[in-house]
Amino acid sequence: MQNSPKRFTITAALPYTNGPVHIGHLAGVYVPADIYSRFQRLQGNDVAFVCGSDEHGVPITIKAKKEGITPQQVVNKYHAIIKKSFQEFGITFDNYSRTSAKIHHDTASDFFEKLYEEGKFIEQTTEQFYDQEANQFLADRFIVGTCPKCGFEESYGDQCESCGTSHNATDLINPKSSITGNTPALKETKHWFLPLDQYESWLKEWIVEGHKKDWKSNVYGQCKSWIDDGLRPRAVTRDLDWGIPVPVEGADGKVLYVWFDAPIGYISATKEWAEKEGKDWEPYWKNEDTKMLHFIGKDNIVFHCIIFPSMLKAEGSYILPENVPANEFLNLEGNKISTSKNWAVWLHEYLEDFPNQQDVLRYVLTANAPETKDNDFTWADFQARNNNELVAVFGNFINRVVVLTNKYYNGIVPKPTDLSEVDIKTLSELKAYPKVIESSLERYRFREAQAELMNVARLGNKYLADEEPWKKVKTDEERTKTIMYISLQIAAALAILSEPFLPFTSTKLKNMLCFSELDSESTWNDISNKDVLIPPAHQIGKGDLLFSKIEDGQVQQQLDKLEATKKSNEMMNASPEPQKDTIQFDDFTKLDMRIGTILEAEKMAKTKKLLILKVDTGIDIRTIVSGIAESFSPEEVVGKKVTVLVNLAPRALRGVDSEGMILMTETPDGKLVFLNPDDEKVSNGVSIS
Ligand code: 2FM
Ligand code: ZN
Repeated sequence: MQNSPKRFTITAALPYTNGPVHIGHLAGVYVPADIYSRFQRLQGNDVAFVCGSDEHGVPITIKAKKEGITPQQVVNKYHAIIKKSFQEFGITFDNYSRTSAKIHHDTASDFFEKLYEEGKFIEQTTEQFYDQEANQFLADRFIVGTCPKCGFEESYGDQCESCGTSHNATDLINPKSSITGNTPALKETKHWFLPLDQYESWLKEWIVEGHKKDWKSNVYGQCKSWIDDGLRPRAVTRDLDWGIPVPVEGADGKVLYVWFDAPIGYISATKEWAEKEGKDWEPYWKNEDTKMLHFIGKDNIVFHCIIFPSMLKAEGSYILPENVPANEFLNLEGNKISTSKNWAVWLHEYLEDFPNQQDVLRYVLTANAPETKDNDFTWADFQARNNNELVAVFGNFINRVVVLTNKYYNGIVPKPTDLSEVDIKTLSELKAYPKVIESSLERYRFREAQAELMNVARLGNKYLADEEPWKKVKTDEERTKTIMYISLQIAAALAILSEPFLPFTSTKLKNMLCFSELDSESTWNDISNKDVLIPPAHQIGKGDLLFSKIEDGQVQQQLDKLEATKKSNEMMNASPEPQKDTIQFDDFTKLDMRIGTILEAEKMAKTKKLLILKVDTGIDIRTIVSGIAESFSPEEVVGKKVTVLVNLAPRALRGVDSEGMILMTETPDGKLVFLNPDDEKVSNGVSIS
């Protein structure tokens, strides 16, 4: 019997809208949150799975400055890209909202106002860092300096990304403005502070004493250490022009701190969803029988376990999270994933290279999830897990069952006869899996849960390998029918159990097994409770491969892409070569450089790099051999205006006399670029002086 449905509010960290989302986001937060939400829905529970774009904060304004556009344009662009990526990867948010939405501005303002009116803030004029050249206060990421706790030299004003500590900007050692690089001055300004010290003993009781056993040790450990270190009041407003205006008098030019408004985004996303669905949002945030969970990455722990709960406690009418199953970080090929260094596998780019292979990435990221420590994503592991596990274990089992059922019985599920001991044992092992997987999921052990799912496919493969229906079919038709019937029950169980982890595969498999034609589709719990998931006489469809092999070339292509990124980063950071020895003006005048036009171009046979060019130098038309063939095709360069060193002594290159040199430079990613006049009207033969 199904217990009465339980209510869940499941939140996934609102991603900053200053770039697209990558595999680190998916592995750390969104895939586990989605697996959990899908699983609870399969249990018949009432789930509100909410998220949205985090559109305020300094990272957005920095990006806008860099791109020369407005913060609103930045968030509009990335909100659309991020939302699409989540949809494409099957992340089943009930609502994906955004913090620039009116409902969010209203909700966050009301929340602040209530705390303000009830005297929950301390109002204080303090000295904050100010950049006199940029003429602005330096909040959060506008300032970098040495972390007072771990010594990391590039800590931000509000948080150190190396040790995770959250601090006040004035705690930084050797602070520098990230706008101008200047050492900032101090200037007085008024702000509102949440007195975290007043919540310390309550937090101690709630977390240190109350959640020692059920919270992950990485989360519990961080919280305990902050509480043990002693908490101090934290400013919840900023002097910035991008964000939610502070809704009290005398706060012109001030906005809510992004980490004050962002978690309230979970509440506004729930409200927006409830409005659309004609539901009441309040039970999801205020009823004690609701289970609230925050899925986040480790850098968000302090905000979700200390600051947001203190805000909720101060407000007084909200429930608190039952758990905060934060993950550690995922690295990529041995290096920290970095948006600014483009060291990432971007979700939208992955789908261009591996179309319709969302489940492969979901699978690999879960198999390698950074649940207890930082983990590394490598393309070699991606290929191995796909080829050796998804293709060779899951896909192979399903393929054999579907193909043999079609071959022997035209796709009709056969009727079993007497069950052997092996059959009974296999079925009873199958019946145990839903509970086994459930137990891992309820402890937020997604890797373990997915490994158990694969064990169901292994159970099927072993059964087929031991029972050998392809041999028995020649001697014992009745026994073969029983073997195929049992194999089909395992295949049906896989279709159901894989749904949270591999949703696209699950749908494909359900279609292959024609689930929609069944009188009633079996559920997760039916696997344990019912004897038959897919009955005799049911017609299944034809086989279609669930997974396909990933070839070495595909992996190499990804590694080449990363290598190019590495090279480009090195060039960007490389200091320019030292200046050469001084020359006299007379030395310079010896160089005769002219503007010319490339008239013809062809590849030099048996070389990779060389093009043979015919160039009009204005003096004459001559042949120049140039090493540019890896950057340009012959067609691309014909008609190009170029700069030519015309009095370089001729020399023979592979038997062709080259009479001059085309001047070039290089982009950070290694592509050659012509040094040509930016006005096409400059005539051939004109000297460079
Ligand atoms: O770390 C981040 O990407 C933040 N934007 C997460 C915010 S989570 C929440 F509180 F909204
Ligand atoms: Zn630190």
